[in-house]
Amino acid sequence: MFVQQPIAILDSGVGGLTVAKEVMRQLPREKLIYFGDTARTPYGPRSSDEVVKFTREIVGYLIQFRPKMIVIACNTATAVALDDIRSRVAVPVVGVINPGARAAIGQTVTGCVGVIGTEGTIKSGAYEQALRGLSPNVRVVSEACPKFVPLVEKGNFRSPETYETVRNSIGHLRGYPIDTLILGCTHYPFLTETISEVMGERVSLINSAEETALEIRKILQDRMGLARGGQVPVHQFFCSGEPHLFKAIAQQWMGEQIELSPVVWQVP
Ligand code: SIN
Repeated sequence: MFVQQPIAILDSGVGGLTVAKEVMRQLPREKLIYFGDTARTPYGPRSSDEVVKFTREIVGYLIQFRPKMIVIACNTATAVALDDIRSRVAVPVVGVINPGARAAIGQTVTGCVGVIGTEGTIKSGAYEQALRGLSPNVRVVSEACPKFVPLVEKGNFRSPETYETVRNSIGHLRGYPIDTLILGCTHYPFLTETISEVMGERVSLINSAEETALEIRKILQDRMGLARGGQVPVHQFFCSGEPHLFKAIAQQWMGEQIELSPVVWQVP
């Protein structure tokens, strides 16, 4: 592993920026190559075969940058494609489900954990499996929220429409003794304030970005692969669809710390 090689991060759209931002915060020397598949978002309602195919295509594209690690910053793709991608590439591949599950188990006091995600993620049962693997007696209440990703991809984070959608989708979860709710989709941290308003202040929200960044650091540290030197990395951002909205959302989310130059990739 060459320490100055970039970390590649992929997502179905803008959601993985929540992970990218946290990696930049925790590992400011690392150069990132980000790919958001905005032309084909959302992945949640798609079949597993399709999501695996798309993930392979993006990894095939990103490999030209010779990344030292690949981060699948999309829960839907992690749920169905992580093992497949791990079997195809020679570099470490990190997903976002195990880090989120670990954080939730460390946080819950009632032993009742809520999971919200796309249809694909919830149907896969990947969070239940990860949570029970860590704590066999944990009670898991899962809910698919198919309307959230389209709101985020439109940049609609806080509006009366967003509040209504969130309340209608997850308001009933307040009837369970949930004290910890996993945001099981990397798009959902964009809706943190609204989700928190609906769930109430006694429910802690788990954003797997922080835990994923910790896992990235640990893997790189163990392999002596952390970037060195005082240079400021120049990150590269790619999206497969119309770049203007992607760029606007990315700039809003990331602040002014980076120069964004989304490049349109022709979807095969
Ligand atoms: C999606 O594209 O439907 C959401 C991505 C995710 O699951 O994190």
